[in-house]
Amino acid sequence: MSAALQHPAPPIVEARDLVRTFRAPRGGRVQALRGVSLRVERGEVLGIVGESGCGKSTLARLLVGLDSPDKGGLRFDGTELSALRGADRRRFHRRAQMVFQDPYGSLNPRLTAGEALAEALRVHAIVPPAEIPARVAALLDQVSLPRDAADRRPHEFSGGQRQRIGIARALAVEPELIVADEPVSALDVSVQAGVVNLFAELRERLGLTLVFITHDLRLVRHLTERVAVMYLGKVVEQGPTASVFAAPRHPYTRALLSAVPRLDPDAPPRPPPIPGEVPSPLAPPGGCAFHPRCPRAEFPVCSHDVPELELRHGAWPAACHFAGSLASGQAGPPPGR
Ligand SMILES: Nc1ncnc2c1ncn2[C@@H]1O[C@H](COP(=O)(O)OP(=O)(O)OP(=O)(O)O)[C@@H](O)[C@H]1O
Ligand SMILES: [Mg+2]
Repeated sequence: MSAALQHPAPPIVEARDLVRTFRAPRGGRVQALRGVSLRVERGEVLGIVGESGCGKSTLARLLVGLDSPDKGGLRFDGTELSALRGADRRRFHRRAQMVFQDPYGSLNPRLTAGEALAEALRVHAIVPPAEIPARVAALLDQVSLPRDAADRRPHEFSGGQRQRIGIARALAVEPELIVADEPVSALDVSVQAGVVNLFAELRERLGLTLVFITHDLRLVRHLTERVAVMYLGKVVEQGPTASVFAAPRHPYTRALLSAVPRLDPDAPPRPPPIPGEVPSPLAPPGGCAFHPRCPRAEFPVCSHDVPELELRHGAWPAACHFAGSLASGQAGPPPGR
């Protein structure tokens, strides 16, 4: 391990300028990702937030290799994904797992939970065949499902239980990274907390790296250490969750946070949420894509110059021409005052 001491370990994920476009059903090109740069450090919980359609699921699929970027670089543990072939590629697919919003869609309805877990163990030769039943039982324990869950099929479980099976299946192959795409948003509010706490517990116990995609900012605050905020196919701010929540640097982050419901019913009302609608990803606005909705926008700089996601004034990166002045203490009134 002396080599590890000499060279600090690379981030588990490093994305540089990822671009992904799709053909739109009615013609044109949807610019789902327009140059996403992102780092995920080993062992952390990173939250990804942003309004519907900003590219979160597209990014999630790229991170675990279910889809490939049109342009840009994506490294996993220091190795460029596009260079992986054969056994190395299969090994990557074991090390990076995804948990989906709707486990019903990702679980084979004909297999019992036990069979689904056994199959994952067999395909990646995780344990010798004779040890599979014991390992299946251990996996069910790990996600707090009863042992007899092994004999039931997906439709016999509740939504929360089904998501626990989805998590157990991801864990079966002993991954280092789990990308969870809105894993609780389809669940009843009453069972969400249990599944969120399971993620927190597993990450702690197994030393996993977790990328947690959600539109629920309360979950971000509760679960994540760092957060990346996306707007129209780009990351506009990425920093420590507590710092970003306390003093967001990008006007979009400020607006998004101002929409979080307050716990204290006597707190003064928040300013109204972000005015205007998210522009179409078929034709994003020029310059900063947020400028048509931004209370801080100045012209022509914001409508013309694309702000880079870069470090300024020693803070975490934000892609705003005025991020420096927003963070320097003269925070000014919240947007939409
Ligand atoms: N396979 C595809 N073909 C065409 N368009 C696509 C495809 N996948 C995604 N898109 C489009 O790309 C954009 C980004 O979609 P994506 O699903 O990544 O957003 P999201 O942030 O996950 O949204 P949500 O919060 O609603 O899940 C959207 O405009 C979507 O319609
Ligand atoms: Mg999505």
